[in-house]
Amino acid sequence: METRLLSASEYDIALAGKIIADGGLVAFPTETVYGLGANAFDEAAVKKIYAAKGRPSDNPLIVHIAEKDDIIPLVKQVTPKAQALIDAFFPAPLTIILPKSEKIGNAVSGGLDTVAVRMPQNGTARALIKASGVPIAAPSANTSGAPSPTKAKRVIEDMDGKIDAVICGEDCDFGVESTVVSLAGEIPVILRPGAVTKEMLEAVIGRVEVAPSVLEGMAENEIAPSPGMKYKHYSPKAEIILVNAPKKRYEKFVNSRKNAFALCFEGDCVDIPKVTYGKENDDLSQAREIFDALRVLDDLGAKKVYARVPRKSGVGMAVYNRLIRAAAFRVIDLEQPFLLGLTGQTGAGKGFVGEYLKSLGFNVLDTDVYARRVCKKNSPILSVLAAEFGKDIIVNGELDRALLAKRAFLNKQNTERLNSIMHPAIIALCKKEAVFPAVLDAPLLFECGANELCFKTIAVLAPEKTRVERIMRRDGITAQQALLRMSAQKNEEFYKSNSDFTVINDGRDIKNQINNILEEIL
Ligand code: TXA
Ligand code: MG
Repeated sequence: METRLLSASEYDIALAGKIIADGGLVAFPTETVYGLGANAFDEAAVKKIYAAKGRPSDNPLIVHIAEKDDIIPLVKQVTPKAQALIDAFFPAPLTIILPKSEKIGNAVSGGLDTVAVRMPQNGTARALIKASGVPIAAPSANTSGAPSPTKAKRVIEDMDGKIDAVICGEDCDFGVESTVVSLAGEIPVILRPGAVTKEMLEAVIGRVEVAPSVLEGMAENEIAPSPGMKYKHYSPKAEIILVNAPKKRYEKFVNSRKNAFALCFEGDCVDIPKVTYGKENDDLSQAREIFDALRVLDDLGAKKVYARVPRKSGVGMAVYNRLIRAAAFRVIDLEQPFLLGLTGQTGAGKGFVGEYLKSLGFNVLDTDVYARRVCKKNSPILSVLAAEFGKDIIVNGELDRALLAKRAFLNKQNTERLNSIMHPAIIALCKKEAVFPAVLDAPLLFECGANELCFKTIAVLAPEKTRVERIMRRDGITAQQALLRMSAQKNEEFYKSNSDFTVINDGRDIKNQINNILEEIL
């Protein structure tokens, strides 16, 4: 079929109206996204929409009307709450669901006994409905599962050759589809968030709920309140992963990713290839741009994309709802307690790994520093140590470290007693102060049980020769002294069997090894 490209002129709109009245399909602009319309009263025409989109037949369509009263014949009854919303908002990016009248066929309602109705704001859309003389059933004009089109050229990409005509109008103002609110039950429920927010609805009709599936994935056996929710949605070809993090942390995180794209806000300092979707504190700009940004990522051949999470309230809820689906619900939450345990053999290069993780935005918690801090002047732990190792280890409220070390390292038993006092205190301080994501740098990570706090653990190992040389250089001691120190430590096997990952410092690129580990766990 040849798809005619029409303008939004009066003449072309009249022509498009006739195509619809005659049972054809026309894509047209609305203020939300482009719609793919057919005569809502013509079952055969409506079925063609499903075919053109490749849309599952149980996913109902929205019926678009030109005047407020045009809803009356489509529904059983315009309830008081429905009327209040119509009076307050129509024409608007708002769709109302009510029990359907017998005029609505099963193709439109996907077999449900309700119907979704919307009166668009966009002048071209309303002129088209008027010109056709019938209500227009229209889903978004994309191939099922792809991001909705907000520009005529995106409609053409998906629909050329499959439909009768496209009215090539302006880019869409809002950019995400209408808010869908069901008034079919006792309490109004938002099934899909959009530019008309929960707060705006509640100001008119009181309590409104948000379907849980708006912000979360649905369980496999859950019945979708809106059939559209259960299908894969808004998915570009690229793999999208949401990153929940404030600006700086997102930037650091994303700049360490390889072979990936960033989907971020204007002004984010990102060094890897990026596509932006609006401004950080401007939900409306994000909504306007998000769908096209997803399509641009595909144009650029992006395979993996780290997207910055929008806020979840106001119109941001609509943006988040689309993005989380585009990401198939994959989120890396850098705000959650995320603690990586880092340990390893002395001289293996643990410090270097810590520095690298720090440069990637991790907050590195050095247990040596914490050990000193828990023993600072007059801290309560000092009296516990004094009771164990002698009152004279405290002088004027300060710990005599050298004396404590002498006594504690006298034998294994004493060392263990010292550890059993110190380790819980160090861990408690780490827990209290850690800003996530963090790395817990601890030579005795496994020995003191701090690995239990960690999401994953990494051990840094190196061949004996390398370690001896490094320790000699670092601490200015002889090879023999270095070997003695090393022999006091656990062997390689211990670290390998206890840690989730090992980094081997034997000439291979350490940063690369770390990147691969992060790739796997994030
Ligand atoms: O902004 C919009 O609403 C755009 C423009 C073209 O108007 N249209 C649009 O339609 O987004 P569509 O088909 O892509 O999305 C309609 C959503 C689907 O998730 C569908 O499952 C849901 O509304 N829906 C339609 N009728 C329903 C009903 N009776 N009960 C529950 N959900 C319904
Ligand atoms: Mg759609």
